[in-house]
Amino acid sequence: MTTSAHGMWSSRLMFILAAAGSAVGLGNIWRFPYVAGENGGGTFVLVYLACIFLIGIPIMVSEALLGRAGRQSPIGSMQELTRRSGTSGFWQIIGYLGVLAGFVILSFYVVIAGWVLSYLLKMGLGEFVGVEPATAKATFEQFTGNAWAVVLWFTAFMVMTMWIAARGVGKGLELAVKYLMPALFVLLLALVGWSALTSGHFAEGLAFLFSWKQHEFSGNAVLLAMGQAFFTLSLGMGAIMAYGAYLPTNTSIPSTVTTIALLDTGVALLAGIAIFPLVFANGLEPSSGPGLMFVTLPIAFGQMTGGQLFGTAFFLLVSFAAITSAISLSEPVLAWLVEKLKVSRPVGAGIIGLVTWLLGLGSAFSFNIWSDFQLLPGKTFFDTMDFVANNILLPVGGVLIAFFTGWLLNRSLLWEQLGERTAFTTILLLLVKYVAPLGVGLVFIMSFVG
Ligand code: TRP
Repeated sequence: MTTSAHGMWSSRLMFILAAAGSAVGLGNIWRFPYVAGENGGGTFVLVYLACIFLIGIPIMVSEALLGRAGRQSPIGSMQELTRRSGTSGFWQIIGYLGVLAGFVILSFYVVIAGWVLSYLLKMGLGEFVGVEPATAKATFEQFTGNAWAVVLWFTAFMVMTMWIAARGVGKGLELAVKYLMPALFVLLLALVGWSALTSGHFAEGLAFLFSWKQHEFSGNAVLLAMGQAFFTLSLGMGAIMAYGAYLPTNTSIPSTVTTIALLDTGVALLAGIAIFPLVFANGLEPSSGPGLMFVTLPIAFGQMTGGQLFGTAFFLLVSFAAITSAISLSEPVLAWLVEKLKVSRPVGAGIIGLVTWLLGLGSAFSFNIWSDFQLLPGKTFFDTMDFVANNILLPVGGVLIAFFTGWLLNRSLLWEQLGERTAFTTILLLLVKYVAPLGVGLVFIMSFVG
């Protein structure tokens, strides 16, 4: 098949923007800096980079090519590809696990995105002009402590996301990514420049991000770094597979995917480079957890000339980055509902919105009325969703995807998608066959034996 019933990207560039829109999101700007901060910085970052190149890119290539070979939702595509490859139907589990992971991730993702929206308004109203570090911290705690405010904001985000998703590939997703992605990039660069020129702690920030500290190298940190690599590249649950299904036939997958991964990694590193000098300059802790971005950035914007405008623009763009990612989290499920239940996209989006909203309440309440409730030992509902998705569902999905692509997918189908046999594609296939499955497996074992 040369086209998908769900629609098609109008060009290679649109696929790059859509997939980068999926990849670049809260994972880069909110999650990466705080997880790196909690895990000692440099060691974590270097392991994360190794995971991106040795495991992430090969799996991303695998997902995109499975999607384009199947041209349907991940579940539909896997049904077709297992049949055409003559393998057991077991491998369709890749699609079903993805649906599960999609709901789990979306449910906590929208809660944080709701915080972003609320901060957009606060910034716009000038609430942080000249703010003291302690006040910024108190504002954050007060806001997340208010269950109804958090629910209201995440509901608003949910509705906007589902509205765009309902409009479809061309009029919804493509239109959204076309303008927002380039703008985000420009703003981030400006923020880095500002941080470098004015924080006075730029070198300290860089050293924190890039220096190797042997004693911090633990199995658990490696698992977290790998989980972050999966999360930031949108891997392991079929999002890239769903987007690959709408990719024109003549586009080279290996080079396109590499471009996307580099863009994504660049944004994460730039976010860290912008944020850590500000953290040190304001005497804050790099290990302050999910609140890191919501406390440091308002302080920084509060101190700078034009900070109100700049800060508003920044939170606006983070909102857009979050929306383009949230849309991609729902696309595998949405495409599947359309195929399976023969419903329209708006109805499918409504169903997803409702399920996610209910699940999202658990995460929204984790910072206030349910803050003492533990779903897993020592983990709130929110922490549990994050942990199960990033450290279990995505890596397991990723191994299955790499193994199926590397060993079981019909070879002529594989090479049809991968393109010519060059040094690059040969190495990629080796990474898909050996390094990705063994690497992920090893990290799993390491994290359990400590
Ligand atoms: N990559 C996005 C981010 O960094 C989140 C995301 C979108 C995602 N789609 C995904 C994560 C699929 C895992 C799987 O914010």
